Amino acid sequence: MLRPLRLEDVDRVLELEVTLFGLGAWTRGMYENELSTPGRTYVAVEEDGVLVGYAGANLGEESHVMTIGVAPQARRRGYASRMLSELMATARRHGATSMLLEVRADDDGPQGLYRRFGFEQIGVRPGYYQLEGADAVVMRAPLAAPPGLPGDEPPGRNPPRPPTA
Ligand SMILES: CC(C)(COP(=O)(O)OP(=O)(O)OC[C@H]1O[C@@H](n2cnc3c(N)ncnc32)[C@H](O)[C@@H]1OP(=O)(O)O)[C@@H](O)C(=O)NCCC(=O)NCCS
Repeated sequence: MLRPLRLEDVDRVLELEVTLFGLGAWTRGMYENELSTPGRTYVAVEEDGVLVGYAGANLGEESHVMTIGVAPQARRRGYASRMLSELMATARRHGATSMLLEVRADDDGPQGLYRRFGFEQIGVRPGYYQLEGADAVVMRAPLAAPPGLPGDEPPGRNPPRPPTA
């Protein structure tokens, strides 16, 4: 079940953080700050009532995936894909035209996931993960406007005229 991530989930998130992100684990303060700051969107996935995944992005014209993680025992069940789809849809609804993220250069798994969602490498940030001494690959995906919104029409096409009497 996909649902918003809430402040009361932070204890469970912190249990998973070190397993998922090692030295790069976020602290309680960082999560509490993220979940209380406007312009952010965070989601969670539950399996049998237990939180097994979470992800978040900031919102803006260029939205940014802040984190995404799934507990080891719940991987390859499409949970990260569902969360990423939701983040991308929310970003689009808030007017984002593209989405950015950083991912460890030495970890092919997440890069494969992101490529499936249209992300392409646009650069490398050497030493981005300072504590681990690892480089980041920067990836970006375009976000199409949702169908039916202004700007969705092919250029140069006029709206249909009302019938004349
Ligand atoms: C990366 C991560 C979030 C993926 O979560 P997930 O729920 O297993 O991902 P999904 O089931 O949605 O995977 C969808 C597709 O992405 C690709 N993929 C995901 N994980 C992969 C891996 N470890 N190796 C290769 N491909 C992978 C596959 O194509 C997969 O489809 P498939 O299972 O049909 O082959 C999870 O492995 C994780 O939490 N890793 C540790 C934290 C991390 O590195 N987060 C990313 C930080 S940028």
